[in-house]
Amino acid sequence: MDSLLFSPLRLGSLQVPNRIVSLPLYLAYPGEDHAVDDLVLDYYDEMAASGVGLVIVENVTVEPCGLGNPRTLLISEDRFIPGLARLAQTIQRHGIPAVLQIHHAGRYANRPDRIAPSPVETWGVVPQAMDQACIDRVVGAFAAGARRAREAGFDGVELHGGTGYLLPQFLSPRTNLREDAYGGDASRRMRFPLEVLAAVRAEVGAAFTVGYRFLADEYMPGGLTLTDTLPFAQALAGAGVSYLSVMAGCYDAFQQPRYLEDDAKEAFMAPFAQAVKRALPGIPVVAAGRIQRPETAAAILRDGMADLVGLARVLFADPLWPRKARGEIHDPINPCTPGCLLCLKRVKEQRPAYCGRWSKARRERFLERVGG
Ligand SMILES: Cc1cc2nc3c(=O)[nH]c(=O)nc-3n(C[C@H](O)[C@H](O)[C@H](O)COP(=O)(O)O)c2cc1C
Repeated sequence: MDSLLFSPLRLGSLQVPNRIVSLPLYLAYPGEDHAVDDLVLDYYDEMAASGVGLVIVENVTVEPCGLGNPRTLLISEDRFIPGLARLAQTIQRHGIPAVLQIHHAGRYANRPDRIAPSPVETWGVVPQAMDQACIDRVVGAFAAGARRAREAGFDGVELHGGTGYLLPQFLSPRTNLREDAYGGDASRRMRFPLEVLAAVRAEVGAAFTVGYRFLADEYMPGGLTLTDTLPFAQALAGAGVSYLSVMAGCYDAFQQPRYLEDDAKEAFMAPFAQAVKRALPGIPVVAAGRIQRPETAAAILRDGMADLVGLARVLFADPLWPRKARGEIHDPINPCTPGCLLCLKRVKEQRPAYCGRWSKARRERFLERVGG
């Protein structure tokens, strides 16, 4: 297979041995104590052993009111550091770096005390608009989360600016109706995520890798498009982000026909990565979105659309993808089924996710382990 896919890359302070990234994929594996458990460790062990060059751990929440699901990892207190350290080591012992995604769900939190830039109703609940004290608290929680991730031994952190969570809620004119310094024109709507990035940078220093999960387009009427998000990407680059991992679509859009139609297409988010790459030639860019075929991955790199290719459901369906792409295993790739969404459905039901493409024996073993 294409040698570019298996060529190394420098990503901030990290040496990444090849261009394939295990993307953050939240699978409802942690328990309600929000701590790393064996199910979490086994999943990341398999992802790190797959032959990818980098693992980015799923969303880990910086304060309890930002939890998107009760079964989510927390990084809000020092007592979580030892478990997270085991997670970092589980990945790194395969000779690759481990990055941890820090997160706040904002209006999408599964909590009665959810907060947001503005009181825009979400799933029947009106979130509390954040006042200045709350903004300062959350900025501090991101910085403290980054410190804990570094202390746990992670090689970098990624700010979760995807899926329409708190950071893009400030950026989006749909969800930010504020009239103070954090709302209004695009430069004001960027202020909160840029403050978070600055606080994280100040905490971990200039040499530490700080990436950003970048929502290029919300797929919603009146929502974010590249017109708003490309200037934001420029601002992130100016503020010292190490890489941008580009995605599209937010929770409000995931069940809508336009998103579902695109989600079925091979490499459907890659054109957004390409637009970011063109605007910011100096920043490493990760492309995502149903990159099912190694040939597609190779073409994305060859055509300069991105510097790395990210696999989430695709790698969950077939953890042998990188080794098959490298030609070490000759079996065909077991592709994620378009329109299946079983993993997302399980997570929404707060039940540990499995893949409909797994063998019957593997599914049965898994369901026995997690109790159905
Ligand atoms: C069940 C599920 C959980 C996800 N969890 C996260 C997450 O924690 N953080 C994140 O940035 N993206 C998350 N994503 C988005 C993926 O990282 C990825 O961008 C998307 O699934 C497209 O890539 P794929 O086609 O290889 O799955 C999730 C997606 C799904 C379906």
